[in-house]
This record gives sequence, structure tokens and C-alpha cells, in this order.
Amino acid sequence: MNTAHFLVKSDLKFVDKSTYTWQTPSNIALVKYWGKSNPQIPKNASISFTLNNCHTITTIEFDKKEKGDVVEFDLFFEGKQKDTFKPKIAEFFARIQEYCPYIFEYKMIINSENSFPHSSGIASSASGLSAIARCLMSLENELNSELTEEYINKKASFLARLGSGSASRSIEGPLVVWGNHSEIEGSSDLFGVRFPYKVHTVFENYQDAILLVDKGEKQVSSTVGHNLMHNHPYAENRFTQANENLTKISEILQNGDVKAFVSLVESEALTLHAMMMTSNPYFILMKPNTLEIINRIWEYRNQNDSNICFTLDAGANVHVLYPECEKGAVNQFIENELSQYCQKNHYICDSVGFGAKKM
Ligand code: PMV
Repeated sequence: MNTAHFLVKSDLKFVDKSTYTWQTPSNIALVKYWGKSNPQIPKNASISFTLNNCHTITTIEFDKKEKGDVVEFDLFFEGKQKDTFKPKIAEFFARIQEYCPYIFEYKMIINSENSFPHSSGIASSASGLSAIARCLMSLENELNSELTEEYINKKASFLARLGSGSASRSIEGPLVVWGNHSEIEGSSDLFGVRFPYKVHTVFENYQDAILLVDKGEKQVSSTVGHNLMHNHPYAENRFTQANENLTKISEILQNGDVKAFVSLVESEALTLHAMMMTSNPYFILMKPNTLEIINRIWEYRNQNDSNICFTLDAGANVHVLYPECEKGAVNQFIENELSQYCQKNHYICDSVGFGAKKM
């Protein structure tokens, strides 16, 4: 499939007014995407758990206007006009205008809110951009009723990807692969697809507690971060390793080997950070409390024969992953022992979710 698949037909049936609201989730990568080429093409395939509680809810009101050559929109975040967010969204619209030319025919009022606290260090670009993409696809479906549900989801992911790569994994759930991979049927660099094989029951309703070690602005934006992979001495090996890890995790997810899951997922997280530590310029994104938490998790795992593990984003916060059967004990452990390492003892309990929901 190529990008021409996502162009619109010429005889759209325009409506005067329409409003859509979508809730779309955040996601946490198990095999990480780090490194890309233009336009938002990943250097390796990645896979993530879709989250359930961490999400964005976005409403877009579309009002028909004379076709113009600028995209007209107002942006409100948590009820307040937010012009500081506008350049990022304007850039997103510029990247998708070829595939959504109807955005020149409407004035858009975008209202957005997140379920997780603003500047909690949880990236809102994945849920934020996928929510806009999903609202646009609802409008497109109204202008062209021939679209199938499958096409709508694919194109929503395709559009979201053009805003932020990982946003392509925030349309469906519970596990989404993005990036062309020989062993994942239907996988593509252009959009995310649901993991196509039967997943072992141990990975159903998997838990993710997000420990907020550092709620500040990201020290390294993902644009800067991905660029660090150009001319990185270990980049090519890393891309090969990630694709091999995707083969391995695909087997693990099917056969239920949780011990293998734990070591692969932790290794992926540490490798992501190792790539940043060995970039030029270099960065350490973990904080002392990130390491405290990791050591406590390892101790707990050994002492309790547990399958708890951690993963990291490009920041200091820690995602603690564990099977549902350990929920009671691990939640106690987090509350009693790990929350002290979080800013203001703040953490968010989440679990795997199923993707975008129309409101
Ligand atoms: O989607 P971006 O460009 O913000 O990149 C996300 C990169 C990581 O979160 C570090 C890894 C991933 O696969 O989500």
C-alpha cells in the first residue's frame, strides 16, 4: 500500500456544520521507535501497549466556509484558548493537507483535554494528535460515506503518524505494531496495525503504573532525539536489534513466556537510554529516583518471584508493567515503597486499553 491510497476522491459531499468528539489513548512502547527519516518513516518497527486511563478527549466543530489557502482553526485546551499550542497543530495540518484537502473548506474549533495532569511528563502528542486525526476521519466519512471502518482506522493512524510517529499506535489496541516488519502480517511504515496474532491470556489486561519522577518539560524533544540517531555510531545495529526484538516479542506474546517478556522489555528501555547517552551531544534522561525505582523493582522481583518489570520513555518517569494476577501485591508495593521516589508521591495506575472511542 502506498500514500496514494489515502488521497480523497474529488466529489466530496460537503455539509454545513458538524461536530465530533473522540477519546484516544496514550501508548507505551515495548520495542521502541527511535530514529526516523522523512516524512516520519521509522528506522525500525515498534510495538506498544495501548493505555486505557491516560487519554485525550477532543471535540472539533467544523463550520463550512469559502475555500481558502490557509487552515483556519481556534484551539482550546481545558477550556482556555491556547495559542501557544497552535504552531504544532498548524504544522500537523500542513503535513496532512494533501490527504485532507477538506480542512481548507472549514473553520475548525478544537477543544481538547487530557485525563492526565498537564506537564506530568507523560507525552500528550500521541493521544492529542490521534484524537484530532480521528475527528478529521469522522468528518471525511460524512463527506464520503463509502469509507470502511478498516480504511478509517488506517487513515486515522496514517494522519496521526504524520504529526508524531508514536501517535500512529494510538488509534487501536491492545497491542499495535508500527513499521514494516517481515514477520508481522499487514505491518507498514505508514500506519499502525493491531498485533495480528492471538495473544496469551497472561498479557490480557496487563497493568501499567506510571511513576511520575519528573513532571517537568522534556529535556530532549523527540524531534531532537530522533535526529541524534543520524550519524550515531551504533544506529544501524540498534535498528537491526529492534527488528529482531520485534520478532522475539511477537513469539513471547503468543506463547506467554513472561520471564522472556520482562528481560526483553527492560533491555529495550535501557537501550533507548543508552542510545541517548552515546549520542553527540549526549544526554542522561534518568534521574537518581529513576535508578532507585529500577533497583527496588529488581529487588522486589527477586524476593517475590514476581514478573514485575519496568520500561521508560525518553524521560525520567518509570512505567511499571505487571500481569493482572499480581495487581493487588504490586499496587501495595508501589504505594508503600515506590511512591516516595515520585514527585509529590504522584503515580497513575493504568492498564491496557482498546483504542479510540467515539463520545
Ligand atoms: O512519537 P515521537 O516522535 O514522540 O517518538 C516517541 C519515541 C519514544 O516514545 C521514546 C519511543 C516510542 O516508540 O514511543
